[in-house]
Amino acid sequence: MIMATESVLGKTVVITGVSRGLGRAMAREFVVQGHRVCGCSRDAGLLDELREELGAGHPLTQVDVTDDASVQAWANEVSQSVGAPDLLLNNAAVINPNAQLWTLDAAEFDQVIDINIKGVANVIRHFVPVMIDAGQGVVVNFSSGWGRSTSPEVAPYCATKWAVEGLTQALAQELPSGLAAVPLNPGVINTDMLKSCFGTSASGCPSPEEWVEVAVPFLLKLGPEHNGQALSVG
Ligand SMILES: NC(=O)c1ccc[n+]([C@@H]2O[C@H](COP(=O)([O-])OP(=O)(O)OC[C@H]3O[C@@H](n4cnc5c(N)ncnc54)[C@H](OP(=O)(O)O)[C@@H]3O)[C@@H](O)[C@H]2O)c1
Repeated sequence: MIMATESVLGKTVVITGVSRGLGRAMAREFVVQGHRVCGCSRDAGLLDELREELGAGHPLTQVDVTDDASVQAWANEVSQSVGAPDLLLNNAAVINPNAQLWTLDAAEFDQVIDINIKGVANVIRHFVPVMIDAGQGVVVNFSSGWGRSTSPEVAPYCATKWAVEGLTQALAQELPSGLAAVPLNPGVINTDMLKSCFGTSASGCPSPEEWVEVAVPFLLKLGPEHNGQALSVG
């Protein structure tokens, strides 16, 4: 089990997509640094493994972010048990298999849109009101280099990350003072998602464990003064 460096829990950090990749590495590192993590993803087995590692006080829930009712139930459970998030990290996402746009079938395109855009909106819909009541908190919507540039064969993914940038900027204009929303380009990190689009060259990129050493302190410093800024880690 992970041992926190402080005995008192610091911030409450809600993270979508904690079963693998950046989400799992962030969950571990926030806990090591003495913060409370509330996480979700779809894979119950991987959540069980992480629950064992993180120990009590860090509720992990099986939620598909595309299911608005499940997200609502999860948000209610989190706000009743631990209160409003200080940090809400919309990290969960998928990428399409590398392919020219016109060769992807409708179901493949829809899945990327449903998770990467509608999923983010579902999480915002049910967590942000609690943060507004609390008068503080930062929403970080994971974007990408491909939310600010494009490449061939990842058009659906690019479309969703450009959408995340726009959605986040508009949200930033709506939030009351004390809160913030930022789109975040995390950089290029060796995860399952990167292997899908980069193939074997993904192994030359930093691991999620290396990335969190920079990313978690960076995330912990975000506050209302960052509202609406398009940020990048590193
Ligand atoms: N890795 C990079 O270099 C890179 C670069 C730019 C941006 N990003 C962004 O960083 C974030 C994390 O990426 P990653 O590389 O860590 O990806 P990853 O390794 O593929 O992990 C994605 C996570 O999202 C979860 N997820 C996917 N669909 C979900 C759903 N419908 N409901 C709940 N959880 C869901 C997955 O869990 P389950 O499958 O168990 O649900 C998994 O835990 C993403 O937003 C990605 O676009 C990554």
